[in-house]
Amino acid sequence: MKVIVIGATGTIGRAIVQAIGNRHEVIPVSFSKSVIKADIADKTSIITMFKKTGRVDGVISAAGLAKFGPMTSLTDADFALSLNNKLMGQVNLVRLGIEHLNDNGSITLTSGILSRKPMKGSTAISLVNSALEGFGRAAALEMPRGIRINVVSPNWVVDTLKAFNMDPAIGTPVETVARAYVQALEGSMNGEVLDAIK
Ligand SMILES: NC(=O)c1ccc[n+]([C@@H]2O[C@H](COP(=O)([O-])OP(=O)(O)OC[C@H]3O[C@@H](n4cnc5c(N)ncnc54)[C@H](OP(=O)(O)O)[C@@H]3O)[C@@H](O)[C@H]2O)c1
Repeated sequence: MKVIVIGATGTIGRAIVQAIGNRHEVIPVSFSKSVIKADIADKTSIITMFKKTGRVDGVISAAGLAKFGPMTSLTDADFALSLNNKLMGQVNLVRLGIEHLNDNGSITLTSGILSRKPMKGSTAISLVNSALEGFGRAAALEMPRGIRINVVSPNWVVDTLKAFNMDPAIGTPVETVARAYVQALEGSMNGEVLDAIK
């Protein structure tokens, strides 16, 4: 299969590329570091990316920014960033990507644990993560030509917790998280939200 991985230079994206290995042809995409670059917050950029990649069998998104901070401190701009980037950026990957996907292809998006296990400071992130999961379940009912859509909702990654000086013991190894994306790509599931814990 020919598979686009968006966010391929990130913590989770790198692990996805590694987990796919040589089994499929991977086209890495990122904001600034990959050969093919894209900004998911910009529809024109998404269209340009698909023009460069041509038709594909899989689109995996492990990208998306949302703002962390106390609810009363979050500005309109903070909410707008979260909605435009992580939420609508990934929704637009689906809306614009369908026509570039081969029959029986698959799309996998990323939400995150803060949808189901919020913490202080996570209102904007929890908002977009929950929305992505609802979108994925509903979009699965309307996907044409056997195309599937799933959402991976990863637990905190061990390496990310370490980088934030948080307790790594509550995290999941990135290899485990990456396996969920591969299962979504290679399996037959549709409309699922995968918690990527096992
Ligand atoms: N890490 C965790 O513990 C965790 C847990 C749950 C959910 N998540 C979610 O998983 C996703 C990836 O997390 P991560 O920790 O792997 O992030 P990361 O290490 O910061 O990597 C982000 C990746 O996304 C790319 N990117 C950034 N902005 C972009 C844009 N506007 N358009 C396209 N690509 C863009 C980056 O490209 P460049 O390198 O070129 O800038 C990079 O490849 C995020 O949505 C995050 O909320 C992460």
